[in-house]
Amino acid sequence: MSLLEFIKKSPKAELHLHIEGTLEPEQMFVLAKRNNIQIPFKNINEVKKAYNFSNLESFLKIYYESAKVLIKEQDFFDLTWAYALKCKEDNIVHAEIFFDPQTHTDRGIDFDIVINGIYKALKKAEKEFSLSFKIIMCFLRHLDEKEGFKILDQALAHKDKIYGVGLDSSETGNPPSKFEKLFRKAEENNFITVAHAGEEGPPEYIWEALNLLNVKRIDHGIQCLKDEKLVEKLSKNKIPLTVCPLSNVKLRVFNKLEEHNLKKMLDKKLMVMVNSDDPAYFGGYLNQNLIETQLALNLSQDEIKTLLVNSFKSSFLSEERKKEWINKICEISKKL
Ligand code: HPA
Ligand code: ZN
Repeated sequence: MSLLEFIKKSPKAELHLHIEGTLEPEQMFVLAKRNNIQIPFKNINEVKKAYNFSNLESFLKIYYESAKVLIKEQDFFDLTWAYALKCKEDNIVHAEIFFDPQTHTDRGIDFDIVINGIYKALKKAEKEFSLSFKIIMCFLRHLDEKEGFKILDQALAHKDKIYGVGLDSSETGNPPSKFEKLFRKAEENNFITVAHAGEEGPPEYIWEALNLLNVKRIDHGIQCLKDEKLVEKLSKNKIPLTVCPLSNVKLRVFNKLEEHNLKKMLDKKLMVMVNSDDPAYFGGYLNQNLIETQLALNLSQDEIKTLLVNSFKSSFLSEERKKEWINKICEISKKL
């Protein structure tokens, strides 16, 4: 078996995936027509041309605009079901997915419509091909903390479906400290916490996420290498960093994949794994991210195995389930 086959055949967990970021251009057109929504694109080619981003902000503008085609529970179901089928294709056996309720409630869509569509599709995938999952609700950090409290109140009615809370959207100028009280309240209500930090923003934002928001994982975290003390803490405490290589190149954090710091992070024994972030916008799902990164950084079989094992170690699965999947990876890697 080649390294490429190992990547494809191995079971994987995906821990950094925005469900709104799986809206493929084709599906955007279908939903726009179905819901009679105007979109600023005439055809798929125009969409693909527009997906030429200069930074996080330029991406978010298009990402929020495109999400406007999602109106009914069926739309959220179809969106999520399409991602579940990608999981099956890529051998993703466990997915911890983000959704951004404020992107929808701010347009007058009910919270219930959003969460029920997503949840029902994941339950169907669980039943039909044993995909396990957790749902994490993200607060939009460009909005006020007060808005976050409103959405958290709504989430309480769906505590059975939502496992944790996260923080996404425009990082620069919106530090984790802005949401300290909100995250405390989320924890008091037994939500686990994660946060995007150190994607474009400075290492200080990662410190804040750890110290003020008490996060169990850092999403992205790639800027941590600028701070030696931080690297020491992250590696000593095995705090997971959910790295998204194709996203980082598309949003110009690195000029090209060959310049990505994932290998350096592995060398420093950081708890990193690969994720796809917003695959419909960034050029590929999980296997594509792994394959392109392996080629660009010349990652060894051992390094690939570490990334795959880390995806389970860093998940919110039970210790027993983690062990089962990690044993499977070890079995497959022996056949290489
Ligand atoms: N960063 C911040 N916000 C986001 C992202 C991201 O990578 N994807 C979707 N919302
Ligand atoms: Zn993200």
